[in-house]
Amino acid sequence: MMVMMIRYVAGALFLTALSILTVADGRHDFIKLPSDGTAGADDDSVGTRWAVLLAGSSGYWNYRHQADICHAYQILRKGGLKDENIIVFMYDDIAYNIENPRPGVLINSPHGEDVYKGVPKDYIGNDVTPNNFYAALLGNKTALTGGSGKVVDSGPNDHIFVFYSDHGGPGVLGMPTSHYIYANDLIEVLIKKHASGTYKKLVFYLEACEAGSIFEGLLPKGLNIYATTASNAEESSWGTYCPGDYPSPPPEYETCLGDLYSIAWMEDSDIHNLRTETLSQQYELVKKRTANENSYYGSHVMQYGDVKLNAESLFTYLGTDPANDNLTFVDENSPLPSSKPVNQRDADLLHFWHKFRRAPEGSDRKFAAQKQLSEAMAHRTHVDSSIKLIGKLLFGIDKGPQMLKAMRPSGQPLVDDWDCLKSLVRTFETHCGSLSQYGMKHMRSIANICNAGVTREQMAEASGQACTSFPSNSWSSLHRGFSA
Ligand SMILES: *[C@@H]1O[C@H](CO)[C@@H](O)[C@H](O)[C@H]1NC(C)=O
Ligand SMILES: *[C@@H]1O[C@H](CO)[C@@H](O)[C@H](O)[C@H]1NC(C)=O
Repeated sequence: MMVMMIRYVAGALFLTALSILTVADGRHDFIKLPSDGTAGADDDSVGTRWAVLLAGSSGYWNYRHQADICHAYQILRKGGLKDENIIVFMYDDIAYNIENPRPGVLINSPHGEDVYKGVPKDYIGNDVTPNNFYAALLGNKTALTGGSGKVVDSGPNDHIFVFYSDHGGPGVLGMPTSHYIYANDLIEVLIKKHASGTYKKLVFYLEACEAGSIFEGLLPKGLNIYATTASNAEESSWGTYCPGDYPSPPPEYETCLGDLYSIAWMEDSDIHNLRTETLSQQYELVKKRTANENSYYGSHVMQYGDVKLNAESLFTYLGTDPANDNLTFVDENSPLPSSKPVNQRDADLLHFWHKFRRAPEGSDRKFAAQKQLSEAMAHRTHVDSSIKLIGKLLFGIDKGPQMLKAMRPSGQPLVDDWDCLKSLVRTFETHCGSLSQYGMKHMRSIANICNAGVTREQMAEASGQACTSFPSNSWSSLHRGFSA
């Protein structure tokens, strides 16, 4: 409060410098006051601001997830957070990927600036694991393997922001290494963090398919946690700034640059004084933009946990960029809808397709792209048909399909026995190969198999019958699977 007062007085003293800024479209007028140049991020009332940022994928066709995470880092740095308080998990195979038209640079929108610059490489490559993520959140250095050793070493007055972007499926989030994040493990970590008394409030932004299933019926109230998700528990989330989309990436990019929900909250944060915008105001804007005019090409942004925390300003978690001090919140700023975002699960095919189409006739590149495309397709067909067949073997020809598709009422978790889910996923993968990023969509079917009381032995027998072999390509390869 005191700081605000002083700032206000300082502003008044410079009244002579007062001017009116008219935004390009002429719709909004802002009163500009001189900035006193402090970020305000050390404001004692919020303790220390911490952030954990995680991109769960690898591969150039997943460019967008690491670009999202890097963009978030830039927002937090401009907001006044220090590197020592921002923990970044990313595979880090994009910036210098041979496919990247601008080596060493990542962009998160068609005209966006480089977001890769300066991003700390805390946990990269094979150190991006669920265990390291949990250990970092819990501030437990002894539980880490590899990485920079940076953890959320927070105290009772501190505020924590977590942002994850990647593929997911019902009850799971992908990781670039061989293990998934299971919703129950993540929730357990959050409960443990709360019990340790080492934060005041925590905000979790989550981009993934079926992201709502991570919290729905699982995240207890009273932990002082507010979460929003890109999608509800039963739908895909969307990649954006994809080739063929409008706005589209520069022509030399054969991949999507961002994700719809992620860019919605970040492009909003980029241009506002975050002292004047609440979490709830941002939620409404992001929800609207991500719904994409309620078209098929959009998803439902959800909120979970202690929803009343959303009355607070974003500044509490993200700080604010002093360059935006004069840009107070206006809620009718509506960016263009995305004309053709791409389903998270199809963005890899889109990349291989564009690569194939544009490669010179008869070139190695054309051949490689064709191979990638057909392997990805073969993997999909294999996973889809194996699951379907297993359902029929377990429940009969007629009942199989409906048993697999059954949906529990909203507000209920996907599965009661998470150990069963993990064990049956492992059983499936042993016989049928890795589910991989596409196959995560079948988690609900496997959860339903658990809910029906099928044992591991029965699952092993059915999987063995359904999958006498599996395609020997990188998608099915077991080094990508196994969800222990
Ligand atoms: C805000 O407006 C004042 C008055 O016009 C100006 O002096 C100051 O530089 C502006 N601050 C920023 C960060 O643009
Ligand atoms: C930290 O992790 C280690 C290793 O997993 C574990 O033994 C220990 O109990 C953990 N410490 C706390 C405070 O949770």
